Amino acid sequence: MTVSNPEHDAPQGKTPRESASTLSESMMPDQLNHHGNVFGGEILALVDKCGGVVARRHARGPVVTVAVDRVEFREPIYATDYVEAHGRLISVGRSSMEVMVTVEAEQVETGHRRRTNVCYLTYVALDKLNGRPCAVPPLILETDDDRRLHAASLRRRERRLADEAEAQEDE
Ligand SMILES: CC(C)(COP(=O)(O)OP(=O)(O)OC[C@H]1O[C@@H](n2cnc3c(N)ncnc32)[C@H](O)[C@@H]1OP(=O)(O)O)[C@@H](O)C(=O)NCCC(=O)NCCS
Repeated sequence: MTVSNPEHDAPQGKTPRESASTLSESMMPDQLNHHGNVFGGEILALVDKCGGVVARRHARGPVVTVAVDRVEFREPIYATDYVEAHGRLISVGRSSMEVMVTVEAEQVETGHRRRTNVCYLTYVALDKLNGRPCAVPPLILETDDDRRLHAASLRRRERRLADEAEAQEDE
């Protein structure tokens, strides 16, 4: 299933598989908080870098982060954990792309892995010449998982637009 974009001038759609990316890091002492666990900002940076690679792979051009939707730290990441961020594209608009990034922490000695975070980030592709938002290729949904995540992404977008409309009414 291709999620078509009527204004789109790019010839070919791409699947989430083509831009999926993993970034990993072995944490160092200067990345820890006062409790000796990994500082949340380090995880956010890894998440944003990973999502940015996904978006750039899809757009094949420069992108900026425009929104980070709901970040929760439900479990600590320990100093000795090996941390992996996995990013996949779940929806596209005209110029915007929503990327889901999941973070996993592995206790290297045992191989035990924990999923510690799931974040949703929106990037906008920019035209190289004028720096304004430009069209990105459509997204081709291949699997049931692609379709499920895409539907959830559209629901999030609808909620955001409704919130924005409500905020404008209140002003
Ligand atoms: C990204 C930026 C160029 C967009 O400019 P703009 O004038 O708002 O452009 P538009 O209104 O045409 O919006 C562009 C797209 O962003 C989307 N967008 C804007 N705000 C959004 C938000 N809060 N959440 C999700 N998407 C958003 C729009 O829906 C639109 O998507 P579409 O093209 O797929 O329909 C501008 O906001 C910007 O430069 N932001 C700073 C980005 C940055 O520096 N990031 C680093 C973090 S500090």
